[in-house]
Amino acid sequence: MAATTSATVTPQLCSSKNGIFSPSQALLLKPMKSYGQKSGKIVCQATTIPADRVPDMGKRQLLNLLLLGSISLPTAGMVVPYASFFVPPGGGGGSGGTIAKDAVGNDVIAAEWLKTHGPGDKTLTQGLKGDPTYLVVEPDKTLATYGINAVCTHLGCVVPWNAAENKFICPCHGSQYNNQGVVVRGPAPLSLALAHADIDEGKVVFVPWVETDFRTGEAPWWA
Ligand code: FES
Repeated sequence: MAATTSATVTPQLCSSKNGIFSPSQALLLKPMKSYGQKSGKIVCQATTIPADRVPDMGKRQLLNLLLLGSISLPTAGMVVPYASFFVPPGGGGGSGGTIAKDAVGNDVIAAEWLKTHGPGDKTLTQGLKGDPTYLVVEPDKTLATYGINAVCTHLGCVVPWNAAENKFICPCHGSQYNNQGVVVRGPAPLSLALAHADIDEGKVVFVPWVETDFRTGEAPWWA
């Protein structure tokens, strides 16, 4: 038996290489100076650890998984909304379009719309980027291939359609636009913006208008 005067020496675990370590009964080995030897070699003294205190690998893996889950779930909850902020909003309809929504937020079905909206009708729908956009019914009872953005080009009020005057008249500062949204009286500096109004699988889809403004022959100021 080795001498017990080695209390000043830091205990350490010896590896299994020396044949002392047992999986079922871990041995804490106390390095000790052998005062009886001139070489001053370090020797180990075995001390047993109760079997119920030996770390269980299965439990450790389970705890690791629980820790990973508790961290990753809240992290995903924060990262996903943050990342989605940078994804351009898509309203369906393909080709970068947005399905028009009616006053209560339902998709606009062209055939249904024409049952309740007659020739010359101009009714607000929700268009690109959520902008209020007029859906226009042509004299031949078809939907116009363009929508008119209702945001006034002066300071941004929503411009109502005035059927009696056959114009869009802004309530804020009196700007006026003809029945296609071309400015006819200031202070608004520009005509109302356009969007394509396509029909895809029966639904009205607004698509950005980037071509020449057919009303003025000029490049679209909003594109
Ligand atoms: S915001 Fe429409 S005229 Fe000023």
